[in-house]
Amino acid sequence: MNFEIQKRQLAQLPRDAHDALVVVWSPGADSGQDLIGEWVNMAVKAGDFEHKAGSVLQSYGMAGVKARRVVVVSCGEGKTADHKAAILAAWASLKGAKVQSLGLHWTGDVSPEQMMQGAVALADASYTYTTTLSKPKARALTRVSLSAESVTAAHRHAVDKAAATVAGIETAKEWANRPANHATPSDLATAARAIAKGPQMDCTVLGPKEVSKLGMGSFLAVAKGSAEPLRFIVMHYKGGKTQDAPVVLVGKGITFDTGGISMKPAAEMDEMKFDMSGAASVLGVFKSLSILRPQVNVVGLIPATENMPDGTAVKPGDVVTSMSGQTIEILNTDAEGRLVLCDALTYAERFKPRAVIDIATLTGACVIALGGVRSGLFASDDQLATDLQQAGEASGDLCWRMPLDDDYAEGLKTKFADVANVAGRAGGSITAAKFLQRFAKKYPWAHLDIAGTAWKSGAAKGATGRPVSLLLEYVTGLTVAPAAKKVATSRRRAA
Ligand code: BES
Ligand code: MN
Ligand code: ZN
Repeated sequence: MNFEIQKRQLAQLPRDAHDALVVVWSPGADSGQDLIGEWVNMAVKAGDFEHKAGSVLQSYGMAGVKARRVVVVSCGEGKTADHKAAILAAWASLKGAKVQSLGLHWTGDVSPEQMMQGAVALADASYTYTTTLSKPKARALTRVSLSAESVTAAHRHAVDKAAATVAGIETAKEWANRPANHATPSDLATAARAIAKGPQMDCTVLGPKEVSKLGMGSFLAVAKGSAEPLRFIVMHYKGGKTQDAPVVLVGKGITFDTGGISMKPAAEMDEMKFDMSGAASVLGVFKSLSILRPQVNVVGLIPATENMPDGTAVKPGDVVTSMSGQTIEILNTDAEGRLVLCDALTYAERFKPRAVIDIATLTGACVIALGGVRSGLFASDDQLATDLQQAGEASGDLCWRMPLDDDYAEGLKTKFADVANVAGRAGGSITAAKFLQRFAKKYPWAHLDIAGTAWKSGAAKGATGRPVSLLLEYVTGLTVAPAAKKVATSRRRAA
């Protein structure tokens, strides 16, 4: 998707040659002196257009306007969520129309953040998956010209960030959407190498032998039942100074989760191809970094394997030794995400990280707790939690902090190993996080449970590309000096 940004007045828009023109209307913006303004005034007087977020007015072949379609949409009270809803309503009203190039104009005040979220929402709504279709239809919308009456350097930066975010989201969606036979651990490794081709980036891929040598007995146990060899993917983005401690992103890369010997029921099991959405979000963030090139160091770790039942598969009750030295009793082979992540978390120690964030479709319990709106956020460090929460609000890719009281770890106790991999049903997303926390003691750590937010089920089945926006916002925020960041945050609150 190509974005450009220009300063423009309402009266200039009729001359712009787009397939469609979307005007986000603010109350009080109607001068009435120009073609589009007069048209809107007429509709308002007739009671056909109101200042309610998402209220839409559309015309075709308007005399004097180059764009075949013009859609005016109200942004209601002008809150960021209203802007997003307005743009999505305008796009929905264009459903079925051939729109390759689109002008997106704001008549009133629009913050850089609103512009970014609007651009990302539009790209999200116009995305289509095509990889495994025999006759792929090319995506229609490829060019978006954003414009507003006043355009600052911050708006231009926001549009650059939006373009990089969209590329990252689409990378994440692509890999998460692919069926498991088109997205094996080896395929993910190939994708990671391709993304890391650019300057300041590199990628190393370890196989079963190297992973054995590292002592990752927990990760290896999950991979035992699969005919596909596991891969441990290590990516580097070096935008900062050599001595700057990196942020480490760890993505759960279960390319298919059958549950193993503790097998899942058949209904909707196909959705377990999305169980590498955490890994896909790490690939997505690296794609974004390759475009945006912020001055920060980032490491990406992806433990990738299938979770399969087999004569060689790990069995309930088996005890394995993790890379940390802690022994784990695997009471349920379907709680495999934590088993691959714990070894990656231990591996992360070698980077002396400023923070480690793991991203995982970890528990069905998190879907029950938070649904598809907010990802579950768990953190051992309050500053890191606050930074991630704020990155979520700024990007519209929301999360919600969950507790980590030690009492929640009671159920993980067992006679037969240092820790069990499951506790009871109660508080399942929290007990999973408590398990991971045991392996993340040496640095500030956060865990994002994206089981509810990484994909949609039903008619809209497909990957969402979350939480690429949140992570990119967080990572780029680290390059801003603390004082400047404070200003940015208070402005955000005001908006
Ligand atoms: N990948 C699943 C979690 C999941 C389930 C994500 C449903 C999205 C929708 C994970 O590996 C899993 O199976 N978790 C178990 C843990 C349980 C055995 C303690 C779960 O949530 O049921
Ligand atoms: Mn599972
Ligand atoms: Zn899983």
